[in-house]
Amino acid sequence: MKKLAAVILAAGLGTRMKSGMAKVLHPILGRPMLSWPLSAVKPLKPSVISVVVGHQGDKVEAAFSSERGLVFATQKQMLGTADAFKTGLEPIRGFDGIILVINGDMPLTRTETLKNFIAAHRKSKNALTVGTFITDTPGSYGRIIRDGSRILGIVEKKDATPQQLAITEVNGGIYVIEPEVLPLLERITNSNAAGEYYLTDMVGLAVAAGMKVGGYVVDEEDLFGVNSRRELAGAADILRRRMLNDLMDSGVTVMHPESAFIQPGISVGRDTVIYPNVVIEGASSIGEGCVIYPGVRLVDAVIGDRVKVKDSTLIEESTVGDGCAVGPFAHIRPGTVLKKDVKVGNFVELKKAVLEDGAKASHLSYLGDAQIGRNVNIGAGTITCNYDGKKKHKTTIGEGVFIGSDTQLVAPVTIGDGAYVGAGSTITADVPPGALAISRVRQRNITDWALRKAQMADCVSKKAQKADSGSK
Ligand code: UD1
Ligand code: CA
Repeated sequence: MKKLAAVILAAGLGTRMKSGMAKVLHPILGRPMLSWPLSAVKPLKPSVISVVVGHQGDKVEAAFSSERGLVFATQKQMLGTADAFKTGLEPIRGFDGIILVINGDMPLTRTETLKNFIAAHRKSKNALTVGTFITDTPGSYGRIIRDGSRILGIVEKKDATPQQLAITEVNGGIYVIEPEVLPLLERITNSNAAGEYYLTDMVGLAVAAGMKVGGYVVDEEDLFGVNSRRELAGAADILRRRMLNDLMDSGVTVMHPESAFIQPGISVGRDTVIYPNVVIEGASSIGEGCVIYPGVRLVDAVIGDRVKVKDSTLIEESTVGDGCAVGPFAHIRPGTVLKKDVKVGNFVELKKAVLEDGAKASHLSYLGDAQIGRNVNIGAGTITCNYDGKKKHKTTIGEGVFIGSDTQLVAPVTIGDGAYVGAGSTITADVPPGALAISRVRQRNITDWALRKAQMADCVSKKAQKADSGSK
């Protein structure tokens, strides 16, 4: 079997995007558009993938610099898809296998589809096979000109006659090409409505040279080309839906797929329930049996099993262990680790905080740069004062400590195991294990103060009345 190479055309300006950014860099579900066809092609294990870049080529190259098996070819002027393909052949000169050509603006193409397409080509003994699809809305796609079952050529929309415009079989922008076809590239001219070198002209030239050309009908969705922002949104929607379908097939409940945004590659365990309006991004993962309530956003968050993340909670670059409950309205900032069965409640902000098993911070707290031991109870309104205006300092709280409500812990400070801190304290010095620390002023009750206050007020108002009547 002949070897396979792939050429991805990604140099175009993407004029219809009306953007300062190269079309293939526009993100879809958090990944640049080009990464989608790339990940469809990679499992085919081509000997090499040649990516043709041009517009903002350096940025496109930089975005994919860590990918292995890629070579980049820079198209100097965007003279059309045939010129782009020729550019893509330069780094693979001498390659004598078959070449898969795919546009970089086709994010919906699936590996399976490409596999079948290539297999059909190999079986057919074609010199050239074009991926086509049938559509009621042929729009700006190239029209496939046939004579019965034989393909004669492709006509671009701009060059098509009214009869040709009515053709419903169109060019999907994927091709498999045998090496003997390549010399025909030199014969392609730019005498057409766009003044471009069309790769699609290769089809007519191959037919004229007596070569066998075939069309292979592919699912329309796979060949969806993104040229505008509307199409970008359309493609994103389909990819999002595919991902959610995969998750649902693997045992995850997604209550309202229309409003769930889950980036590709994120694993979610069985029997986890995702409520509406949830966003899960980056290197996040969720274990089994979790409930992710409405309005939650997880960014690079690793969530264990049986975790409840309640309404309107943001978790960033943090780890949440098995059995934890977080939120509602909690903000878990980077570097936080919640071990097992930790409870973080309403309006709690954590930053670089480690809460050991069973620790609780249920209401209205800020805990930053803090190490908090097992089964600690952090009272409502507790604040770690971790910043002195210049540097951050650490708060360390031992096992089983009870911090009373409305406490300020001025870091650096350490509270020993089993200690208590009285409510309303400002703790500026270490507390030994087992001690009770109270720093608030002792309470004084002034007897009958309210009565005397009332009498005083009465007396003042009487005096005022007297003075008033005397002056009349
Ligand atoms: C192209 C096909 C059309 C097909 C459609 C499928 C041609 C002439 N037309 O049209 O028949 O129906 O794809 O989606 O091929 N590119 C370069 N360098 C260039 C020009 C384009 O690298 O000089 C790249 C673009 O970045 C893009 C791809 O080639 O990824 C296709 O170019 P585009 O301008 O989008 O072609 P279409 O008009 O969509
Ligand atoms: Ca296109």
